[in-house]
Amino acid sequence: SAAVPVHEEEFIQCLSNEFNAYTKSLEIIFTPESSLYSHLLESSKDNMRWINSTSRPALILTPMHESEIRAAILCSKRVGLQVRVRSGGHDYEGLSYLCKTPFIIIDLLNFRAIEVDIEDETAWVQSGATIGELYYAIAQESKVHAFPAGLCPTVGIGGHLSGGGFGTMLRKYGLAADNVIDAYLVDVTGRILDRQGMGEDLFWAIRGGGGASFGIILSWKIKLVRVPPTVTVFNVPRTLEQGATKLVHRWQYISHKLPQDIFIRIVIQNVGGDNNHHATQKKTVLATFNSLFLGDKDRLVSLMDESFPELGVEASDCLEMSWVDSTVYFAGFARGSPLEVLLDKTELYKAYFKAKSDFVTEPIPEDGLTGIWERFLKEELVFVIMDPYGGRMDAILESQLPFPHRKGNLYNIQYIVKWEGNGVGSAATHIDWINKLYKYMEKYVSKFPRAAYLNYRDLDLGTNKHPNTSDEEASVWGLKYFKANFKRLVQVKSRVDPHNFFWNEQSIPSISSTW
Ligand code: FDA
Repeated sequence: SAAVPVHEEEFIQCLSNEFNAYTKSLEIIFTPESSLYSHLLESSKDNMRWINSTSRPALILTPMHESEIRAAILCSKRVGLQVRVRSGGHDYEGLSYLCKTPFIIIDLLNFRAIEVDIEDETAWVQSGATIGELYYAIAQESKVHAFPAGLCPTVGIGGHLSGGGFGTMLRKYGLAADNVIDAYLVDVTGRILDRQGMGEDLFWAIRGGGGASFGIILSWKIKLVRVPPTVTVFNVPRTLEQGATKLVHRWQYISHKLPQDIFIRIVIQNVGGDNNHHATQKKTVLATFNSLFLGDKDRLVSLMDESFPELGVEASDCLEMSWVDSTVYFAGFARGSPLEVLLDKTELYKAYFKAKSDFVTEPIPEDGLTGIWERFLKEELVFVIMDPYGGRMDAILESQLPFPHRKGNLYNIQYIVKWEGNGVGSAATHIDWINKLYKYMEKYVSKFPRAAYLNYRDLDLGTNKHPNTSDEEASVWGLKYFKANFKRLVQVKSRVDPHNFFWNEQSIPSISSTW
Protein backbone atom coordinates (compact mmCIF):
# COMPACT_ATOMS: atom_id res chain seq x y z
CA SER A 1 0.00 0.00 0.00
CA ALA A 2 1.07 3.61 -0.56
CA ALA A 3 1.23 4.17 3.19
CA VAL A 4 4.11 1.74 3.61
CA PRO A 5 7.46 3.56 3.41
CA VAL A 6 9.72 2.12 0.80
CA HIS A 7 12.25 0.55 3.16
CA GLU A 8 9.59 -1.67 4.69
CA GLU A 9 8.82 -3.17 1.29
CA GLU A 10 12.50 -3.49 0.62
CA PHE A 11 12.90 -5.14 3.96
CA ILE A 12 10.21 -7.71 3.26
CA GLN A 13 11.68 -8.31 -0.17
CA CYS A 14 15.09 -8.77 1.40
CA LEU A 15 13.72 -11.18 3.97
CA SER A 16 11.94 -13.28 1.37
CA ASN A 17 15.17 -13.52 -0.61
CA GLU A 18 17.09 -14.48 2.52
CA PHE A 19 14.42 -16.93 3.55
CA ASN A 20 13.84 -18.43 0.06
CA ALA A 21 14.04 -21.97 1.38
CA TYR A 22 11.42 -21.16 4.00
CA THR A 23 8.54 -19.51 2.18
CA LYS A 24 6.33 -20.26 5.18
CA SER A 25 8.51 -17.96 7.23
CA LEU A 26 6.64 -14.95 5.94
CA GLU A 27 3.99 -15.91 8.49
CA ILE A 28 6.30 -14.52 11.13
CA ILE A 29 6.08 -10.98 9.73
CA PHE A 30 3.43 -8.62 11.08
CA THR A 31 2.95 -5.28 9.37
CA PRO A 32 0.73 -2.50 10.78
CA GLU A 33 -1.97 -3.82 8.43
CA SER A 34 -1.93 -7.29 10.04
CA SER A 35 -4.85 -7.94 12.34
CA LEU A 36 -2.56 -9.23 15.08
CA TYR A 37 -0.07 -6.34 14.92
CA SER A 38 -1.53 -4.20 17.71
CA HIS A 39 -2.15 -7.11 20.02
CA LEU A 40 1.40 -8.36 19.52
CA LEU A 41 2.84 -4.90 20.03
CA GLU A 42 0.93 -4.00 23.18
CA SER A 43 0.40 -7.30 25.00
CA SER A 44 3.91 -7.75 26.34
CA LYS A 45 4.49 -4.14 27.40
CA ASP A 46 4.77 -4.44 31.15
CA ASN A 47 4.93 -0.74 31.98
CA MET A 48 1.55 0.62 30.88
CA ARG A 49 3.07 4.08 30.51
CA TRP A 50 4.08 2.98 27.02
CA ILE A 51 0.75 1.46 25.97
CA ASN A 52 -0.50 2.99 22.69
CA SER A 53 2.72 4.96 22.31
CA THR A 54 3.13 6.66 18.94
CA SER A 55 6.44 4.86 18.54
CA ARG A 56 5.34 1.92 16.40
CA PRO A 57 7.61 -0.47 14.55
CA ALA A 58 7.47 -0.83 10.77
CA LEU A 59 7.21 -4.56 11.39
CA ILE A 60 7.14 -7.07 14.17
CA LEU A 61 8.93 -10.33 13.55
CA THR A 62 8.28 -13.42 15.63
CA PRO A 63 11.02 -15.76 14.41
CA MET A 64 10.71 -19.51 14.81
CA HIS A 65 14.22 -20.27 13.71
CA GLU A 66 17.61 -18.66 14.26
CA SER A 67 18.19 -18.26 10.50
CA GLU A 68 15.25 -15.85 10.49
CA ILE A 69 16.90 -13.72 13.17
CA ARG A 70 20.08 -13.72 11.15
CA ALA A 71 18.15 -12.64 8.03
CA ALA A 72 16.37 -9.91 10.00
CA ILE A 73 19.68 -8.43 11.17
CA LEU A 74 21.22 -8.53 7.70
CA CYS A 75 18.13 -7.00 6.05
CA SER A 76 17.74 -4.30 8.72
CA LYS A 77 21.31 -3.25 8.12
CA ARG A 78 20.78 -3.27 4.37
CA VAL A 79 17.69 -1.05 4.39
CA GLY A 80 18.61 1.12 7.36
CA LEU A 81 16.09 0.04 9.99
CA GLN A 82 16.89 -0.10 13.68
CA VAL A 83 16.30 -3.34 15.57
CA ARG A 84 14.67 -3.67 18.95
CA VAL A 85 14.76 -7.12 20.50
CA ARG A 86 12.14 -8.11 23.00
CA SER A 87 12.06 -11.10 25.33
CA GLY A 88 9.67 -10.47 28.24
CA GLY A 89 8.97 -6.77 27.54
CA HIS A 90 9.63 -5.72 31.16
CA ASP A 91 12.11 -2.96 30.40
CA TYR A 92 11.02 -0.06 32.64
CA GLU A 93 11.63 2.50 29.90
CA GLY A 94 10.31 0.33 27.06
CA LEU A 95 13.65 0.08 25.28
CA SER A 96 12.72 -3.32 23.82
CA TYR A 97 9.85 -1.86 21.79
CA LEU A 98 10.24 1.95 21.52
CA CYS A 99 12.50 3.75 19.07
CA LYS A 100 12.60 7.26 17.67
CA THR A 101 13.75 6.26 14.18
CA PRO A 102 12.16 3.67 11.82
CA PHE A 103 12.60 0.25 13.36
CA ILE A 104 11.48 -3.35 13.61
CA ILE A 105 10.85 -5.44 16.70
CA ILE A 106 12.24 -8.94 16.86
CA ASP A 107 10.01 -10.54 19.45
CA LEU A 108 11.36 -13.79 20.85
CA LEU A 109 8.01 -15.16 21.94
CA ASN A 110 8.63 -18.36 19.96
CA PHE A 111 12.05 -18.82 21.54
CA ARG A 112 10.97 -20.20 24.88
CA ALA A 113 12.20 -23.78 25.07
CA ILE A 114 13.72 -24.99 28.34
CA GLU A 115 15.74 -28.20 28.67
CA VAL A 116 16.67 -29.20 32.19
CA ASP A 117 19.46 -31.75 32.72
CA ILE A 118 19.29 -32.75 36.37
CA GLU A 119 22.21 -35.17 36.20
CA ASP A 120 24.45 -32.40 34.92
CA GLU A 121 22.70 -29.82 37.17
CA THR A 122 22.36 -27.44 34.22
CA ALA A 123 19.66 -26.21 31.86
CA TRP A 124 19.45 -24.56 28.45
CA VAL A 125 16.84 -21.85 28.39
CA GLN A 126 15.86 -19.71 25.43
CA SER A 127 15.65 -15.95 25.86
CA GLY A 128 11.90 -15.64 25.24
CA ALA A 129 11.01 -17.89 28.18
CA THR A 130 10.01 -16.23 31.43
CA ILE A 131 11.69 -16.83 34.77
CA GLY A 132 8.40 -18.33 35.98
CA GLU A 133 8.51 -20.87 33.16
CA LEU A 134 12.07 -21.68 34.14
CA TYR A 135 11.19 -22.19 37.82
CA TYR A 136 8.28 -24.41 36.79
CA ALA A 137 10.43 -26.48 34.42
CA ILE A 138 13.08 -27.06 37.10
CA ALA A 139 10.43 -28.09 39.64
CA GLN A 140 9.06 -30.67 37.19
CA GLU A 141 12.42 -32.42 37.33
CA SER A 142 13.63 -31.94 40.89
CA LYS A 143 12.55 -30.75 44.33
CA VAL A 144 16.10 -29.90 45.38
CA HIS A 145 17.28 -27.80 42.46
CA ALA A 146 16.54 -24.17 41.75
CA PHE A 147 17.80 -21.07 39.98
CA PRO A 148 18.64 -17.77 41.69
CA ALA A 149 16.76 -15.12 39.68
CA GLY A 150 14.09 -12.46 40.21
CA LEU A 151 10.71 -12.51 41.93
CA CYS A 152 8.24 -11.60 39.21
CA PRO A 153 7.51 -14.72 37.12
CA THR A 154 6.65 -12.81 33.92
CA VAL A 155 10.10 -11.22 33.62
CA GLY A 156 11.84 -12.44 30.44
CA ILE A 157 15.07 -14.43 30.51
CA GLY A 158 16.66 -12.32 27.72
CA GLY A 159 16.63 -8.97 29.52
CA HIS A 160 16.95 -10.39 33.02
CA LEU A 161 20.10 -12.49 32.53
CA SER A 162 21.77 -9.95 30.29
CA GLY A 163 21.25 -7.20 32.90
CA GLY A 164 22.22 -9.19 36.04
CA GLY A 165 19.06 -10.50 37.70
CA PHE A 166 18.60 -10.96 41.42
CA GLY A 167 16.08 -12.37 43.81
CA THR A 168 15.64 -14.18 47.09
CA MET A 169 18.76 -16.36 46.77
CA LEU A 170 21.26 -13.65 45.88
CA ARG A 171 22.95 -13.79 49.26
CA LYS A 172 23.60 -17.50 48.79
CA TYR A 173 24.20 -17.82 45.04
CA GLY A 174 24.69 -14.31 43.62
CA LEU A 175 23.03 -13.03 40.48
CA ALA A 176 21.29 -14.99 37.77
CA ALA A 177 24.13 -13.83 35.49
CA ASP A 178 26.70 -15.28 37.94
CA ASN A 179 25.21 -18.69 37.18
CA VAL A 180 25.34 -18.54 33.38
CA ILE A 181 27.95 -20.86 31.85
CA ASP A 182 27.33 -20.64 28.10
CA ALA A 183 25.12 -18.81 25.61
CA TYR A 184 24.26 -18.57 21.91
CA LEU A 185 24.26 -15.14 20.34
CA VAL A 186 23.63 -13.81 16.82
CA ASP A 187 26.15 -11.07 16.19
CA VAL A 188 25.95 -8.05 13.90
CA THR A 189 27.33 -10.03 10.95
CA GLY A 190 24.69 -12.72 11.43
CA ARG A 191 27.04 -15.31 12.88
CA ILE A 192 25.69 -17.61 15.56
CA LEU A 193 28.27 -17.92 18.29
CA ASP A 194 28.49 -19.93 21.49
CA ARG A 195 30.80 -19.07 24.41
CA GLN A 196 33.82 -20.49 22.68
CA GLY A 197 32.97 -18.82 19.39
CA MET A 198 32.27 -15.40 20.90
CA GLY A 199 35.26 -15.45 23.24
CA GLU A 200 35.48 -14.63 26.95
CA ASP A 201 35.25 -10.82 26.53
CA LEU A 202 31.90 -10.86 24.76
CA PHE A 203 30.64 -13.66 27.00
CA TRP A 204 31.58 -11.45 29.97
CA ALA A 205 29.79 -8.44 28.48
CA ILE A 206 26.42 -10.11 27.92
CA ARG A 207 26.21 -11.23 31.56
CA GLY A 208 25.25 -7.89 33.08
CA GLY A 209 26.19 -5.35 30.40
CA GLY A 210 22.74 -5.51 28.79
CA GLY A 211 22.25 -7.78 25.77
CA ALA A 212 20.88 -5.14 23.43
CA SER A 213 24.30 -3.52 22.83
CA PHE A 214 25.97 -6.68 21.62
CA GLY A 215 23.66 -8.82 19.53
CA ILE A 216 20.66 -11.05 19.99
CA ILE A 217 21.08 -13.73 22.59
CA LEU A 218 19.12 -16.83 21.63
CA SER A 219 19.69 -19.05 24.64
CA TRP A 220 21.61 -19.46 27.84
CA LYS A 221 23.15 -22.43 29.61
CA ILE A 222 22.69 -22.03 33.32
CA LYS A 223 24.03 -23.81 36.37
CA LEU A 224 21.27 -25.00 38.65
CA VAL A 225 21.78 -24.56 42.37
CA ARG A 226 20.83 -26.86 45.24
CA VAL A 227 18.09 -26.10 47.73
CA PRO A 228 16.71 -28.15 50.60
CA PRO A 229 13.37 -29.93 49.99
CA THR A 230 11.81 -27.60 52.56
CA VAL A 231 12.37 -23.87 52.81
CA THR A 232 10.67 -21.37 55.12
CA VAL A 233 9.12 -17.99 54.39
CA PHE A 234 7.62 -15.19 56.43
CA ASN A 235 5.92 -11.88 55.87
CA VAL A 236 5.96 -9.65 58.95
CA PRO A 237 4.23 -6.26 58.51
CA ARG A 238 4.86 -3.33 60.87
CA THR A 239 3.37 0.15 60.62
CA LEU A 240 4.98 3.35 61.91
CA GLU A 241 2.80 3.01 64.98
CA GLN A 242 4.21 -0.48 65.50
CA GLY A 243 7.77 0.79 65.43
CA ALA A 244 8.62 0.39 61.73
CA THR A 245 11.24 3.16 61.75
CA LYS A 246 13.39 1.54 64.44
CA LEU A 247 13.04 -1.87 62.79
CA VAL A 248 14.04 -0.65 59.33
CA HIS A 249 16.93 1.21 60.91
CA ARG A 250 18.11 -1.87 62.80
CA TRP A 251 17.68 -4.13 59.75
CA GLN A 252 20.36 -2.13 57.94
CA TYR A 253 22.97 -3.34 60.44
CA ILE A 254 21.89 -6.97 60.37
CA SER A 255 20.49 -8.14 57.05
CA HIS A 256 23.73 -8.16 55.02
CA LYS A 257 25.63 -9.99 57.77
CA LEU A 258 23.22 -12.85 58.37
CA PRO A 259 24.13 -16.39 57.24
CA GLN A 260 23.80 -16.74 53.46
CA ASP A 261 20.80 -19.03 53.79
CA ILE A 262 18.63 -16.20 55.00
CA PHE A 263 17.31 -13.32 52.94
CA ILE A 264 15.09 -10.68 54.51
CA ARG A 265 13.96 -7.86 52.27
CA ILE A 266 11.69 -4.97 53.21
CA VAL A 267 8.83 -3.72 51.09
CA ILE A 268 7.69 -0.31 52.32
CA GLN A 269 4.48 1.31 51.12
CA ASN A 270 1.95 3.94 52.10
CA VAL A 271 -1.43 2.64 53.24
CA GLY A 272 -4.71 3.99 54.62
CA GLY A 273 -6.29 7.35 53.91
CA ASP A 274 -7.59 7.40 50.35
CA ASN A 275 -5.79 4.22 49.51
CA ASN A 276 -8.67 1.74 49.45
CA HIS A 277 -6.45 -1.28 49.10
CA HIS A 278 -5.96 -1.40 52.84
CA ALA A 279 -8.44 -1.50 55.66
CA THR A 280 -6.57 0.95 57.87
CA GLN A 281 -8.21 4.35 57.86
CA LYS A 282 -5.34 6.42 59.10
CA LYS A 283 -2.68 7.13 56.53
CA THR A 284 0.55 5.47 57.56
CA VAL A 285 3.64 3.73 56.29
CA LEU A 286 3.82 -0.05 56.32
CA ALA A 287 7.13 -1.91 56.26
CA THR A 288 6.79 -5.60 55.45
CA PHE A 289 9.75 -7.81 56.29
CA ASN A 290 9.68 -10.54 53.73
CA SER A 291 11.98 -13.54 54.10
CA LEU A 292 13.18 -16.72 52.44
CA PHE A 293 15.21 -19.13 54.53
CA LEU A 294 16.86 -22.18 52.95
CA GLY A 295 16.09 -24.36 55.94
CA ASP A 296 13.31 -25.30 58.34
CA LYS A 297 11.05 -23.24 60.56
CA ASP A 298 12.63 -24.08 63.94
CA ARG A 299 16.07 -23.07 62.78
CA LEU A 300 14.74 -19.84 61.28
CA VAL A 301 12.90 -18.86 64.46
CA SER A 302 15.97 -19.43 66.60
CA LEU A 303 18.15 -17.56 64.10
CA MET A 304 15.78 -14.61 64.24
CA ASP A 305 15.75 -14.76 68.05
CA GLU A 306 19.51 -14.51 68.11
CA SER A 307 20.07 -11.94 65.40
CA PHE A 308 16.97 -9.75 65.10
CA PRO A 309 14.81 -10.27 68.21
CA GLU A 310 13.28 -6.78 67.82
CA LEU A 311 11.26 -8.00 64.85
CA GLY A 312 9.52 -10.57 67.06
CA VAL A 313 9.23 -13.33 64.45
CA GLU A 314 7.30 -16.30 65.84
CA ALA A 315 6.78 -19.82 64.57
CA SER A 316 3.23 -18.85 63.63
CA ASP A 317 4.60 -16.22 61.20
CA CYS A 318 6.58 -18.86 59.32
CA LEU A 319 5.45 -21.19 56.56
CA GLU A 320 7.36 -24.23 55.38
CA MET A 321 7.11 -25.14 51.71
CA SER A 322 9.09 -26.32 48.70
CA TRP A 323 11.39 -23.84 46.97
CA VAL A 324 9.13 -23.64 43.93
CA ASP A 325 6.14 -22.88 46.16
CA SER A 326 8.21 -20.06 47.64
CA THR A 327 8.49 -18.54 44.15
CA VAL A 328 4.69 -18.57 43.92
CA TYR A 329 4.54 -17.00 47.39
CA PHE A 330 7.03 -14.23 46.56
CA ALA A 331 5.21 -13.53 43.32
CA GLY A 332 2.22 -12.59 45.47
CA PHE A 333 -0.18 -15.40 44.55
CA ALA A 334 -2.57 -16.77 47.17
CA ARG A 335 -1.37 -19.70 49.26
CA GLY A 336 -2.38 -22.95 47.62
CA SER A 337 -2.31 -21.53 44.09
CA PRO A 338 -1.35 -24.21 41.55
CA LEU A 339 2.21 -24.04 40.22
CA GLU A 340 0.77 -23.25 36.80
CA VAL A 341 0.39 -19.61 37.90
CA LEU A 342 4.11 -19.41 37.18
CA LEU A 343 3.31 -19.92 33.50
CA ASP A 344 0.62 -17.31 33.39
CA LYS A 345 1.48 -14.11 31.58
CA THR A 346 -1.43 -12.27 33.15
CA GLU A 347 -1.81 -8.62 33.86
CA LEU A 348 -0.95 -9.09 37.53
CA TYR A 349 2.08 -6.82 37.48
CA LYS A 350 1.08 -4.40 34.79
CA ALA A 351 0.95 -0.82 35.98
CA TYR A 352 1.71 2.76 35.02
CA PHE A 353 4.94 3.40 36.86
CA LYS A 354 8.31 5.09 37.13
CA ALA A 355 11.14 3.59 39.17
CA LYS A 356 14.68 4.48 40.21
CA SER A 357 17.36 2.67 42.16
CA ASP A 358 20.26 3.24 44.55
CA PHE A 359 22.81 1.26 46.47
CA VAL A 360 23.29 1.91 50.17
CA THR A 361 26.74 1.56 51.72
CA GLU A 362 26.16 3.20 55.14
CA PRO A 363 23.05 2.76 57.27
CA ILE A 364 20.57 5.61 56.85
CA PRO A 365 19.95 7.35 60.21
CA GLU A 366 16.44 7.28 61.67
CA ASP A 367 15.74 10.88 60.81
CA GLY A 368 16.73 10.14 57.22
CA LEU A 369 14.14 7.36 57.11
CA THR A 370 11.54 9.66 58.64
CA GLY A 371 12.10 12.05 55.75
CA ILE A 372 11.20 9.24 53.33
CA TRP A 373 8.00 8.51 55.23
CA GLU A 374 6.99 12.18 55.16
CA ARG A 375 7.28 12.14 51.38
CA PHE A 376 5.40 8.85 51.21
CA LEU A 377 2.42 10.27 53.04
CA LYS A 378 2.01 12.91 50.35
CA GLU A 379 1.78 10.44 47.44
CA GLU A 380 -0.89 7.90 46.48
CA LEU A 381 0.79 4.64 45.56
CA VAL A 382 4.47 4.32 46.32
CA PHE A 383 6.86 1.55 47.22
CA VAL A 384 10.40 1.28 48.39
CA ILE A 385 12.00 -2.14 48.20
CA MET A 386 15.20 -2.83 50.11
CA ASP A 387 17.07 -5.99 49.03
CA PRO A 388 19.93 -7.03 51.32
CA TYR A 389 23.34 -7.82 49.81
CA GLY A 390 26.35 -9.39 51.53
CA GLY A 391 27.01 -13.14 51.59
CA ARG A 392 28.00 -14.50 48.19
CA MET A 393 27.80 -10.99 46.67
CA ASP A 394 30.75 -9.92 48.86
CA ALA A 395 32.89 -12.77 47.58
CA ILE A 396 32.61 -11.90 43.88
CA LEU A 397 35.02 -9.33 42.46
CA GLU A 398 33.56 -6.12 41.01
CA SER A 399 35.23 -6.92 37.71
CA GLN A 400 34.00 -10.52 37.52
CA LEU A 401 30.96 -9.45 35.48
CA PRO A 402 29.79 -6.02 34.23
CA PHE A 403 27.46 -5.78 37.27
CA PRO A 404 29.83 -4.11 39.77
CA HIS A 405 27.67 -3.72 42.88
CA ARG A 406 29.35 -6.24 45.15
CA LYS A 407 31.30 -5.95 48.42
CA GLY A 408 30.58 -2.86 50.48
CA ASN A 409 26.93 -2.58 49.50
CA LEU A 410 24.57 -3.16 52.39
CA TYR A 411 21.49 -3.24 50.21
CA ASN A 412 19.87 -2.18 46.98
CA ILE A 413 17.00 0.23 47.21
CA GLN A 414 14.31 0.66 44.57
CA TYR A 415 11.73 3.46 44.55
CA ILE A 416 8.53 2.94 42.58
CA VAL A 417 5.61 5.28 42.05
CA LYS A 418 2.48 3.94 40.38
CA TRP A 419 -0.59 5.68 39.07
CA GLU A 420 -3.93 4.73 37.65
CA GLY A 421 -3.79 5.96 34.07
CA ASN A 422 -2.15 8.23 31.56
CA GLY A 423 -4.50 11.18 32.17
CA VAL A 424 -3.28 14.63 31.24
CA GLY A 425 -0.61 15.73 33.67
CA SER A 426 -1.04 12.75 35.95
CA ALA A 427 2.21 11.02 35.01
CA ALA A 428 4.14 14.28 35.31
CA THR A 429 3.03 14.89 38.91
CA HIS A 430 4.10 11.43 40.03
CA ILE A 431 7.38 11.56 38.17
CA ASP A 432 8.07 14.92 39.78
CA TRP A 433 7.42 13.33 43.16
CA ILE A 434 9.87 10.47 42.59
CA ASN A 435 12.51 12.87 41.27
CA LYS A 436 12.25 14.87 44.48
CA LEU A 437 12.54 11.72 46.58
CA TYR A 438 15.61 10.72 44.54
CA LYS A 439 17.16 14.11 45.17
CA TYR A 440 16.40 13.83 48.88
CA MET A 441 18.11 10.41 49.02
CA GLU A 442 21.33 11.68 47.50
CA LYS A 443 23.14 12.22 50.79
CA TYR A 444 22.24 8.77 52.13
CA VAL A 445 23.32 6.53 49.25
CA SER A 446 26.43 5.48 47.30
CA LYS A 447 28.52 8.27 45.81
CA PHE A 448 31.16 8.79 43.09
CA PRO A 449 29.37 7.40 41.27
CA ARG A 450 25.86 7.32 42.65
CA ALA A 451 25.31 3.74 41.49
CA ALA A 452 22.20 2.26 39.89
CA TYR A 453 21.05 -1.16 38.68
CA LEU A 454 20.78 -1.57 34.92
CA ASN A 455 17.71 -3.80 35.09
CA TYR A 456 15.85 -1.03 36.92
CA ARG A 457 16.38 1.06 33.80
CA ASP A 458 16.19 4.81 34.33
CA LEU A 459 16.71 7.13 31.38
CA ASP A 460 16.95 10.14 33.72
CA LEU A 461 20.50 8.99 34.49
CA GLY A 462 21.50 10.05 31.00
CA THR A 463 21.03 8.87 27.43
CA ASN A 464 22.82 8.55 24.13
CA LYS A 465 21.40 11.38 22.09
CA HIS A 466 22.51 9.93 18.77
CA PRO A 467 24.23 6.78 17.47
CA ASN A 468 27.74 8.22 17.60
CA THR A 469 27.64 9.25 21.24
CA SER A 470 31.16 9.40 22.63
CA ASP A 471 32.21 7.15 25.46
CA GLU A 472 32.67 10.26 27.55
CA GLU A 473 29.04 11.33 27.10
CA ALA A 474 27.82 7.80 27.71
CA SER A 475 29.96 7.47 30.83
CA VAL A 476 27.55 9.85 32.62
CA TRP A 477 25.08 6.98 32.93
CA GLY A 478 27.50 4.15 32.12
CA LEU A 479 29.62 4.60 35.26
CA LYS A 480 26.50 4.49 37.44
CA TYR A 481 25.46 1.12 36.09
CA PHE A 482 28.89 -0.42 35.56
CA LYS A 483 31.54 1.62 37.44
CA ALA A 484 35.05 0.69 36.18
CA ASN A 485 33.59 -2.09 34.02
CA PHE A 486 32.14 0.51 31.66
CA LYS A 487 35.53 0.94 30.00
CA ARG A 488 35.84 -2.76 29.22
CA LEU A 489 32.26 -2.81 27.90
CA VAL A 490 33.16 -0.01 25.48
CA GLN A 491 36.19 -1.98 24.33
CA VAL A 492 34.16 -5.13 23.73
CA LYS A 493 31.42 -3.19 21.95
CA SER A 494 33.91 -1.38 19.73
CA ARG A 495 35.38 -4.69 18.65
CA VAL A 496 32.19 -6.68 18.06
CA ASP A 497 29.89 -3.96 16.69
CA PRO A 498 32.24 -1.26 15.37
CA HIS A 499 29.55 0.53 13.37
CA ASN A 500 27.22 0.61 16.35
CA PHE A 501 24.33 -1.16 14.65
CA PHE A 502 22.86 -2.30 17.97
CA TRP A 503 22.08 1.16 19.23
CA ASN A 504 19.55 2.48 21.77
CA GLU A 505 19.25 5.31 24.29
CA GLN A 506 21.40 3.43 26.79
CA SER A 507 23.49 1.11 24.66
CA ILE A 508 27.24 0.88 25.14
CA PRO A 509 28.94 3.24 22.67
CA SER A 510 31.33 2.02 20.02
CA ILE A 511 34.41 4.19 19.69
CA SER A 512 36.41 2.12 17.25
CA SER A 513 36.30 4.75 14.53
CA THR A 514 38.29 7.10 16.73
CA TRP A 515 40.84 4.49 17.81
P1 FDA B 1 12.70 -6.71 27.67
O1 FDA B 1 12.25 -7.70 26.66
O2 FDA B 1 11.94 -5.44 27.77
O3 FDA B 1 14.25 -6.43 27.47
C1 FDA B 1 15.01 -5.60 28.31
C2 FDA B 1 16.26 -5.13 27.57
O4 FDA B 1 17.04 -6.25 27.19
C3 FDA B 1 15.96 -4.38 26.28
O5 FDA B 1 16.98 -3.44 26.03
C4 FDA B 1 16.01 -5.48 25.25
O6 FDA B 1 16.24 -5.02 23.93
C5 FDA B 1 17.13 -6.35 25.76
N1 FDA B 1 16.95 -7.74 25.39
C6 FDA B 1 15.90 -8.53 25.68
N2 FDA B 1 16.07 -9.75 25.20
C7 FDA B 1 17.27 -9.75 24.57
C8 FDA B 1 18.00 -10.75 23.87
N3 FDA B 1 17.52 -11.98 23.72
N4 FDA B 1 19.19 -10.41 23.34
C9 FDA B 1 19.68 -9.16 23.48
N5 FDA B 1 19.04 -8.18 24.15
C10 FDA B 1 17.84 -8.48 24.70
N6 FDA B 1 14.87 -7.53 38.20
C11 FDA B 1 15.54 -8.23 39.13
O7 FDA B 1 16.75 -8.34 39.07
N7 FDA B 1 14.85 -8.86 40.13
C12 FDA B 1 13.50 -8.81 40.24
O8 FDA B 1 12.93 -9.39 41.15
C13 FDA B 1 12.78 -8.06 39.25
N8 FDA B 1 11.43 -7.96 39.31
C14 FDA B 1 10.74 -7.23 38.34
C15 FDA B 1 9.36 -7.12 38.39
C16 FDA B 1 8.67 -6.39 37.44
C17 FDA B 1 7.16 -6.29 37.51
C18 FDA B 1 9.39 -5.75 36.40
C19 FDA B 1 8.68 -4.93 35.35
C20 FDA B 1 10.77 -5.86 36.32
C21 FDA B 1 11.46 -6.59 37.30
N9 FDA B 1 12.85 -6.70 37.27
C22 FDA B 1 13.50 -7.42 38.23
C23 FDA B 1 13.63 -6.02 36.22
C24 FDA B 1 13.92 -6.97 35.05
O9 FDA B 1 14.99 -7.82 35.41
C25 FDA B 1 14.29 -6.17 33.80
O10 FDA B 1 13.26 -5.31 33.44
C26 FDA B 1 14.67 -7.10 32.65
O11 FDA B 1 15.51 -6.42 31.75
C27 FDA B 1 13.45 -7.59 31.93
O12 FDA B 1 13.76 -8.53 30.94
P2 FDA B 1 12.71 -8.76 29.77
O13 FDA B 1 13.30 -9.77 28.86
O14 FDA B 1 11.36 -9.02 30.35
O15 FDA B 1 12.65 -7.31 29.14
